Amino acid sequence: MRFFVLSAAALAIGALTAQSQTPVTSRVAQTPPVGWNSWNYFADKVTDQNIRDSADQIVSTGMKDAGYIFVNIDDTWEGERDANGVLHTNSKFPDMKALADYVHSKGLKIGIYSSPGPKTCGGYEGSLGHEEQDAKMYAAWGIDYLKYDLCGFIPDVMMKQAPNDHAAQMRIMIAAYDKMNKALKATGRPIVFSFCQYGWDSVWEWAPSVGGNLWRTTGDITPDWDRMYAILSQQEGLEKYAGPGHWNDPDMLEVGNGKLSLSENRVHFSMWAMLAAPLLAGNDLPHMKPEIKAILTNKDVIAIDQDRLGKQAARIYSDGEVEVWSRHLSGGALAVAVINVGSDRYSTHPFHLNLHKLGLGDSQTGKDLWTGKAVTLTQNQPLELPSHDILLVRIDAPKALAK
Ligand code: GLA
Repeated sequence: MRFFVLSAAALAIGALTAQSQTPVTSRVAQTPPVGWNSWNYFADKVTDQNIRDSADQIVSTGMKDAGYIFVNIDDTWEGERDANGVLHTNSKFPDMKALADYVHSKGLKIGIYSSPGPKTCGGYEGSLGHEEQDAKMYAAWGIDYLKYDLCGFIPDVMMKQAPNDHAAQMRIMIAAYDKMNKALKATGRPIVFSFCQYGWDSVWEWAPSVGGNLWRTTGDITPDWDRMYAILSQQEGLEKYAGPGHWNDPDMLEVGNGKLSLSENRVHFSMWAMLAAPLLAGNDLPHMKPEIKAILTNKDVIAIDQDRLGKQAARIYSDGEVEVWSRHLSGGALAVAVINVGSDRYSTHPFHLNLHKLGLGDSQTGKDLWTGKAVTLTQNQPLELPSHDILLVRIDAPKALAK
């Protein structure tokens, strides 16, 4: 154990030294990445054409203007390695450089996916033993973002090299992420580095020191309220680890997918913005309904996510099934979210807002970010919120509670 602590510290110091030598221009993700990823809708069926269509739609729907910049290809683009170890794409992606050029021609950026293991989660070719070669190839293609998913590394490396020794397994995993970090940095191309290892081993404590710009904090999201809310609840307490260049990632958005109702989509999008989470839509963009587009392109909500202070929201209190979260914003502003998480319309009725618990005085004026209208919030004000719905308010000039 002691050996591990020392070696993790050494790794961290080494990586920090490398980071401080990095030119400012190559520092990425100063605000959480915003874009779209293929997995949540297309999964293993994604093709080159889906990526092109999605890029087109990001532009034509106004999503690009709202801040969606990344178009990320998830797992299942990989083919086989040749005798020189060069990884080729499979038949769904005939020419990755041409695809990257196409996405760039729209003023967007392109992301890709791999694993530190021999195989990805989908059983495709990973980067083990080819990290530098793959990083150079990504840079040559013009890749701007890499999601690096632990998956095959667990059984094939961690469990084989250090069976039953969790500390050693963790050390091996951190070294694997650092290896790709160094390979990416060596290319000289600014590439956002996204860790996907499901929030194991307190990843938020060590990921930034080995180049992580964002790290998954949980297992996979699914498009239903229970999973989305479980993930939201698991973010409590992680707020201190987020900041410019390094973000908690509660997984990609399911807005517009599966069983989420309209108000549930609003809660999901609002709270990911409150969490300063990456906003990676994962819906079928060519067939997006207008009401889903309205949620995904709400610029006021995106501005909460992108606030340059980079302070993640904290859950301040809950009363029955109503939760109150707040997030400090630049210029002294504050965002307040009140969510009825209960499944019964009258589960906590009436709910009285306690501004004092938020450090606020008796009356506040702000903007309701879903109606777009001015609102006044008062101490003990009764609020009625339908089940699984949210009140999201931005207060530009909060008045503090007199001491
Ligand atoms: C894991 C990740 C998902 C997705 C799939 C692809 O499950 O957590 O986000 O990338 O692998 O195989």
